[in-house]
Amino acid sequence: MFSRRLFLASTGAALWVPKMAYAEGGKAHFTLGVASGSPTPSSVILWTRLAPDPLNGGGMPPGTADVRVRVCTDDAMRNPIRDEIVRTSDADAHSIHYKLTGLKPGREYFYQFYYGDEESPVGRTRTTDPNAPEAKVALAYCQHYETGHYAAYRDLASWVPDCVIHTGDYIYEGGISAFGAKMRDVGGGERRMFEIVRQHNSNEIVTLWDYRNRYALYRADPHLQAAHAIAPWIVAMDDHEVDNNWAAGTPQDPEKQTPLEFEIRKYAAFKAYYEHMPIEAPPAFNKMKATLQLYGKYHLGPALIHLLDTRQFRDDQPCGDNRKPYCEEALDPKRTIMGAEQEAWLTRSLKTSSAPFNVIATQVWFTSYRYTEAPEAAETNLDSWDGYPSARDRLSATLADGVSNPIFLTGDWHTAMASTLHEDQFDPNSRRIGHELVGSSISSYCPWARDMEIVRDANPHVSYLNGNKRGYLRTTFSKDNCSAEFRVVEDSGRADSPVTTDIEMRTKDM
Ligand SMILES: [Fe+2]
Repeated sequence: MFSRRLFLASTGAALWVPKMAYAEGGKAHFTLGVASGSPTPSSVILWTRLAPDPLNGGGMPPGTADVRVRVCTDDAMRNPIRDEIVRTSDADAHSIHYKLTGLKPGREYFYQFYYGDEESPVGRTRTTDPNAPEAKVALAYCQHYETGHYAAYRDLASWVPDCVIHTGDYIYEGGISAFGAKMRDVGGGERRMFEIVRQHNSNEIVTLWDYRNRYALYRADPHLQAAHAIAPWIVAMDDHEVDNNWAAGTPQDPEKQTPLEFEIRKYAAFKAYYEHMPIEAPPAFNKMKATLQLYGKYHLGPALIHLLDTRQFRDDQPCGDNRKPYCEEALDPKRTIMGAEQEAWLTRSLKTSSAPFNVIATQVWFTSYRYTEAPEAAETNLDSWDGYPSARDRLSATLADGVSNPIFLTGDWHTAMASTLHEDQFDPNSRRIGHELVGSSISSYCPWARDMEIVRDANPHVSYLNGNKRGYLRTTFSKDNCSAEFRVVEDSGRADSPVTTDIEMRTKDM
């Protein structure tokens, strides 16, 4: 079981991070904490990175460095099952991705790295167990550094989930904003105040050096480190890890760069993402294209989780980006948001699944949302599945064809939301296919919250909506229910803000 000692080490992260950062006798190297991820019943990836000067390229001398990794079955680190030396080098920014194999399903393990006389914090991880009666899964996304502290992650760590899903916008690529309050239009003639509480460390990031330093800035946050140290994460990026609203080979501003320049930028972004995430495989650059394997399947007790990648293989947003009525292009039946290969993989897996709950973790909302009262020529967000109606119809048809309890767990829109999905979403008499649950964003604010509230009546399938608070989602799966706690941060401008449950919903009752 999980003891008080590690709980304090994690949730009181502010206590141990400064200690590591100013360790006596030289520079501290474990400034970015530890992490684990990509769990299976028998393996997990353990991560750390040596970075004595994290915001300036890391600060390690060129060449290799040997790091010891120890894994124990107890948090006091007395019962080792592994003790090995792992070599890292400047080619991967001195990051380590150690694949720990030969484990037992549904077990906790504790790990620690050593470099010279230094010890890293102790991390806790857990293998998956397809036969477990219950699974506790947290969902997080959208953590703009400038617009909030990570009280949500402090609270997430205290829950000690079996696994954390991150559906993207782990970093934001933009430059430095001015400190203080900003007034923004939020729709309906209203203006609301948003605050910049801390600042980015450079102009818009483009090169590998920039992306590495941006990840280091975010990862230096003690509450984000605590959330990584407490549980394995499964991760897939959305748009801001590269560039706002990018789609496969198309950047936000195609006129400002050549396709090859964008692929090089993507490769830099993918490389830095890999160097800071507990994932197994690095990116590749083949035939002038950058690629990174992110989508995958994880089986936690009653929940079979499919984590999607809806950025790398999608057709460009139709009719131009943003919220618009459909143009003809949007209705093209060939349009894809997952790419043919991923779509075939997902369809196959769903059709053969015997899990009580079939979770689809996706970057952008599957639920349709009308931003206008009139159904004719309704405006929708064309960056979400609303911009890919034929791809959504294909997946809806698969789900309606006997897939047990489909649940979408989704990020992107900085708004907490719960909906019931029907084959035709605006026809409650059409076949019911499942639910979508979206926690709030960790720290990114929602200037379109009021816009969405005004048209709630035009979206009767949405049973809960809250864009006014930051937060995350706790889900607990059992054989016949998924309960979702929508956690909200009272004041995202404070790292010590209280975090409470706004509403708890059970799919049994929805
Ligand atoms: Fe975001």
